[in-house]
Order: sequence, then C-alpha cells, then structure tokens
Amino acid sequence: MTQTYTITRLGHQGDGISDGPVYAPRTLPGEVVSGTLLGQFLSDIRVETPSDQRVKAPCRHYKSCGGCQLQHAADDFVADWKVEVVRNALTAQGLEADMRPIHTSPERSRRRATIAVRRTKKGTLAGFHGRASDTITEIPDCHLLDLALIAAIPVAEALAVLGGSRKGVLAVTLTLSEGGLDVAVKGGKSLDGPLELALAQATEKHGLARLSWDGEVIAMRQPPVQRFGAADVVPPSGAFLQATKDGEQALLQAVSEATSGAKRIVDLFAGCGTFSLPLAETAEVHAVEGEAAMTQALDQGWRRAQGLKRVTTEARDLFRRPLMPDELKSFDAVVIDPPRAGAEAQVAELAQALRPVIAYVSCNPVTFARDAKTLVNAGYTLEWLQVVDQFRWSSHTELAARFILNPKT
Ligand SMILES: C[S@@+](CC[C@H](N)C(=O)[O-])C[C@H]1O[C@@H](n2cnc3c(N)ncnc32)[C@H](O)[C@@H]1O
Repeated sequence: MTQTYTITRLGHQGDGISDGPVYAPRTLPGEVVSGTLLGQFLSDIRVETPSDQRVKAPCRHYKSCGGCQLQHAADDFVADWKVEVVRNALTAQGLEADMRPIHTSPERSRRRATIAVRRTKKGTLAGFHGRASDTITEIPDCHLLDLALIAAIPVAEALAVLGGSRKGVLAVTLTLSEGGLDVAVKGGKSLDGPLELALAQATEKHGLARLSWDGEVIAMRQPPVQRFGAADVVPPSGAFLQATKDGEQALLQAVSEATSGAKRIVDLFAGCGTFSLPLAETAEVHAVEGEAAMTQALDQGWRRAQGLKRVTTEARDLFRRPLMPDELKSFDAVVIDPPRAGAEAQVAELAQALRPVIAYVSCNPVTFARDAKTLVNAGYTLEWLQVVDQFRWSSHTELAARFILNPKT
C-alpha cells in the first residue's frame, strides 16, 4: 500500500528520514514522498514535492550505481550537511569548534577504486555494485574516478577472463602510482603455475606497475611509487592510501599548520608516511603504525630521500599497546590519524602526556568527538577543525583538527 511521508532530516548514511523512523534513500529534508513501506525502508519512492536543493544527478549511472549516495542534492547542501554532521557529533559531547570552510575534492579525482568483475556468457561485466544489491553497474562515465582509472577497467576485465571463477565476483583494486597502475585482485581462482604465468604475461601486456593476487605479488615491472613530499615510497600492495591526492594535500596542509614550529613530532597510525615524510622537511619524526610492511616502506622511502630530518619507525598495535606518557614526553607535537574506531586507548595516554599540540585526522566524526572530549577534559582546547571531503557524493566525512594545551594544565 502506498503511503505519503515528509522527510525531516538526513541520517548518517545520507538517507532521508521521516517520523517513525522511516528511511527513504535519495530523498531530501522538506520533501514529500510516497512509496511502499518494507520494514523501516520506503521502496518504489516517488518524490511528490521536491526540495529546492534537489538537482539532476551529474552522472548518468547514478540511478542504478551504488557508488554515490548524494548526487541528487546540490553541492552546497551536501557540504553544509557534512559540516553539520561533525558539528552534531561535537554537540553530543558538549563540545564546539571554530569550523573552517570545508574542502571538497574535485570530480574525477579518486586515485583508487575497487572494481567488481563477473564473468558472463558473453565475456565480463565490470563496474560498481548496484544500489543495495549485488548486481554490477558499468561505469564508463563515472564522475568520481580519475579518467586513468576508468581507462584501466578493461585491465580488470582481462584479469577476470584469466583468473575469475565462473560463479564468483572478482574485486580488482586499481591504484594510480608514479610507476603506473598498481593492481591488487581478490576473490579469484587459486594460483597455480599456468595461472601465474598468464598473470605475469598480462602484467607485461598491459604495462602494469605491479600485480598482486590474493595478497601475493605476481609481478612488478615498475615500483608503484607514491610520492610523499620529497620521498618516494613503494607501499605494500593494498596498503592504506588517502582517497584523492587533492584530499591528501588538504589534510597535510592542515596537519603541517597545526604542528608548525615543532621540532620533534610523533605520527601515530602513520601508514606509509603520508604525513611523516613531508613533516620531516622541518622536524624529526617518529612514525608508529600497526603494519610492519608499511613502516618498512616508510623507512625505505626516507632512506632514499634527500634533505629530510631524521625519521624513525615503530611497528606497534596502538589499540593494545598505546605509547605511554613516558614515551611521548620528548615530542612537542603529536599527529594522530586512526581508523574509524578512533583511538580511545592512545588518547587516554595523550590525556596524561599533555604534549603542547595535537593534530587529529579522523574519518569518523563520532569517534573523533568521543576522543576530543577526553582531550578537552584533560585540559586541551579544540582550536579549529576542517572538514575534508575526499568522498564526494558519499555520506562519508573526514576532518583535521588542532588541539592546544591550555596554559597551566
Ligand atoms: C586512516 S589510516 C591513516 C594512515 C596515514 N596517516 C595516512 O594518512 O596515510 C589508519 C592507519 O592506522 C593503521 N592501524 C589500524 N589499526 C591499528 C592499530 N591497532 N595500531 C596501529 N596502527 C593501526 C592502519 O594500518 C592505517 O595505516
């Protein structure tokens, strides 16, 4: 039975929400919509009264593709909503901050994408998963991905022909690097001699920098270098990388400004050195990261680079074994960029260590606000915060913030 609802707000996933709550994907606050209720979700949605923030989606794939959630909304609306999501998370902890203008990465700037590929009777089908389904939508005109990634989709298809099983879906992660395309495949057939040979030949034929298959490097024609400041780093296959170079630069600028003047910086959850290596142009840096392969890549990048100050690395699980106040006392600034869970255990130690400045980069406003509260209770001021949107048209929100220790704490 069709019913009518008025959308009052957007939820964290970007869905419109009406009283109930009833969730209506791809609707906007103020809209009157009708549809069929399935549990708490509205389906077969018709927008009866559109919002003046509703726009025609720029991408022709938007209707079927699940890659974007918010292309039906004006850019300014999405930007304001993301800032509001952060503000609300802070308010829930009784906090506020000076919010700098949001930085949004341009269209077609994503440098990494995981393409789903299925073998079909006629050949292959490659693209993103559809909206709330396991169908695959082809994305030749995708507005998110760098054009070089779109151009590489046929490589993903060729790999599926060689090593995709008839029933399964291959997940092919394509990353742009200075050395060319870095490709990591998951979900394919088990490796054997003939498959390995065919994959090595495909690496040559398509001019790939590196190809790995279910975690194993098959071939490396060129080091798939990522440049972090003056250093060239070859990350382990599939290692964390900021989603766009533009977003990486915006976060780095915020972190550099937040820590400027520091002589010794500790970079926690350092990855392969996105922040550590550029910061080492002016400060000594100790980089701590859970994955040993990433700290090794960081270290090698530093050793090959010219003109950087000393960088030391440590592979350490910062959830189980956070750096203790004694280990933190020689640093005059802290950079921390944890995964979505935040850094509860490490932040509890930072609240004891009381270093002068903390630059906090986060991909989850809720865990950020929780950790921010701990720091504020310990005597820090949340001086400023900037939302950085590398995941344009998604509900995902990232930020960088500066905490300073109050005098006499
Ligand atoms: C959001 S990424 C940031 C990486 C880096 N700062 C960058 O910008 O490229 C979070 C990093 O935390 C690391 N990590 C996840 N859990 C960890 C843990 N328990 N202890 C230490 N590092 C962890 C991940 O491997 C990843 O490199």
